[in-house]
Amino acid sequence: MEKVKMFQTVNREGTYSTKYDDAIKKFATDDLLPLWVADMDLASPDCVQKTLAKRAAHPVYGYTVYPPEYFDAIQSWMQKRFDWHIEKEWIVPCYGVVPSLNFAITAYSEAEDGILIQTPLYAPFSSSVKHKNRRVLDNTLVYENGEYHIDYEDFEAKAKEAKLFLLCSPHNPTGRAWSKEELERLIDICLANEVLIISDEIHADVVYEQMHHSISSFEKMMHHCVILNAPSKTFNVAGLNTSYAIIPDLKLRQAYRIEQNKSGITNGNPFGIEALMSAYSEGETWLESLKIHLNSNITYVKIFLEEHQIPIRAVPTEATFLMWLDCKELGLSHEKVVDFFIYKAKLGLNDGKSFGAAGEGFMRLNVGTSKKVLEEAMQRLLHAYKEEN
Ligand SMILES: Cc1ncc(COP(=O)(O)O)c(C=O)c1O
Repeated sequence: MEKVKMFQTVNREGTYSTKYDDAIKKFATDDLLPLWVADMDLASPDCVQKTLAKRAAHPVYGYTVYPPEYFDAIQSWMQKRFDWHIEKEWIVPCYGVVPSLNFAITAYSEAEDGILIQTPLYAPFSSSVKHKNRRVLDNTLVYENGEYHIDYEDFEAKAKEAKLFLLCSPHNPTGRAWSKEELERLIDICLANEVLIISDEIHADVVYEQMHHSISSFEKMMHHCVILNAPSKTFNVAGLNTSYAIIPDLKLRQAYRIEQNKSGITNGNPFGIEALMSAYSEGETWLESLKIHLNSNITYVKIFLEEHQIPIRAVPTEATFLMWLDCKELGLSHEKVVDFFIYKAKLGLNDGKSFGAAGEGFMRLNVGTSKKVLEEAMQRLLHAYKEEN
């Protein structure tokens, strides 16, 4: 078992990280504190580091199969973390959740079919639907009194012409961890309208107060859903391209496999496989400490904004290391808000509009870093705000 540890930022220079090395290209300036791409500036757990070092010491990095221990590790992780029993044969390994999302779209729908999503939303959901020539049916989330909820009437109306529902659970960027009741209502509407649910649960491990409910842990969903997950967000191993689909229904699984196989994916990434097995079997204590650290970062930002009366509202973050900031009270146009963060505060956050039109007036802040970096970020923000007001 891992010992509880302090979470310091690791210098990522020289590692070709998207967050740092692509920041100059994205923001067209080189003096930013990058707080965008959804990975963390924190070291992966010791158990993962040791396992990877051991594997790297073996000098052959050839084609690699998924060993039985890989499936065991996922099965026992789901059991111990979510009290959810899955069979090993339900698991289909892949190299990324977004690729799986694409395979699922082609496996279960035809061109021009309607596909439900809920914006503001991680952009590859809508772009994947559009690239495959399906129609986006947007059940835009309702933002009321600083919180997000679902418009069920609208969802039901759109479900009548939908083939699939791409659920993001927990939800990026709003930070919602859907409750059992909310999921139950969505499930019932989907079942009544024969809409299959593809549930992206990549953020499931980082849920703070509530419990994560996987969509397929609902008995009635067994034959109507596909779950997509990965250790990548949780253990900061996104670069190892190792994910998996969980598909309890045999026919759905076969249809999915056909699409994935067509793309030529067969073997796994030797490092990703090792990382997953190690993280899921030994990384639990580390994860519990990480959650405390991230939650404290979230509270710190929220309190800082309030105490310094910066009119930016932090939407409650029930899950993920991504904070969704409502900047509308700054009284600026969206474009000016983006400019304010980049050029005045020198902070590289994600532009809210990249999550769809419903993200207008919002910015997404990644708190998967050290307290020290966040303190620096908040000081920059405060300074810029004071200069402007
Ligand atoms: C909801 C969600 N799904 C998928 C991904 C990316 O997954 P992958 O790198 O496995 O394609 C992200 C990354 O930010 C995400 O937030």
